[in-house]
Amino acid sequence: MTDPRNRLIVALDAPDLKEALRLLKTLKGRVDWFKIGSQLYTAEGPAIARAVKEAGAKVFLDLKFHDIPATVARACRSAMTLGVDMLNVHALGGGAMMRAAAEEVAREPEAKRPIVIAVTVLTSMGADDLEQVGIAGPVDSRVIRLAGLAKDSGLAGVVASANEVAAIKAACGAGFITVTPGIRPGWAAADDQKRVATPAEALHGGADYLVVGRPIIAAADPEAAAERTLEEMARA
Ligand code: C5P
Repeated sequence: MTDPRNRLIVALDAPDLKEALRLLKTLKGRVDWFKIGSQLYTAEGPAIARAVKEAGAKVFLDLKFHDIPATVARACRSAMTLGVDMLNVHALGGGAMMRAAAEEVAREPEAKRPIVIAVTVLTSMGADDLEQVGIAGPVDSRVIRLAGLAKDSGLAGVVASANEVAAIKAACGAGFITVTPGIRPGWAAADDQKRVATPAEALHGGADYLVVGRPIIAAADPEAAAERTLEEMARA
């Protein structure tokens, strides 16, 4: 496989800049990708994205944009100004919104374009939750339908649980990127994740990027935990 460091994304789920910078300092040089989510971004804003870039690493800005097409396009523009390498939007924002994101990103020279992916159905939602918001039918088929819409709208891939990857690749093609959270190396606790996969299971299933948070950032020795995760990926 390609260097596992290109495929491991560590979720920088820290409450503030101080803690995020501590983790970044510990892990930089070892980990190439960091995911910045809404907790940290709402608290600290662009400073953390800039710090990751200055550390020579890549940023996945996980803000799950979901708004009218023009606003999402402008949010993508702001993210590109920050130099992020990956960002995401909600597929439920619709085809026009996803196309607006894809078109805005396409204005950038190819080498500077972030990877834009979609969230299909939040993994916290089951069939009952979908029915509550007027979406009928099994979750799996909603995921595949929304992944197909993301692809047709020009996006590069989706966030997906490891057990959805095979069906998404079958429907959308091997080149359609899957980014999978819920990854738990054999030695880590599941925490609140319900459907977990080991790094090896996720990679064998076809996942392109693995998102790992607590097994690394909450470990007694985050650097060693990152190293063990990368070794497990390399062996897979
Ligand atoms: O600590 P843990 O490895 O569970 O962190 C996973 C990260 O991926 C968290 O930032 C979480 O918000 C995010 N995520 C997820 N499930 C999704 C989408 C994102 O766990 N479906």
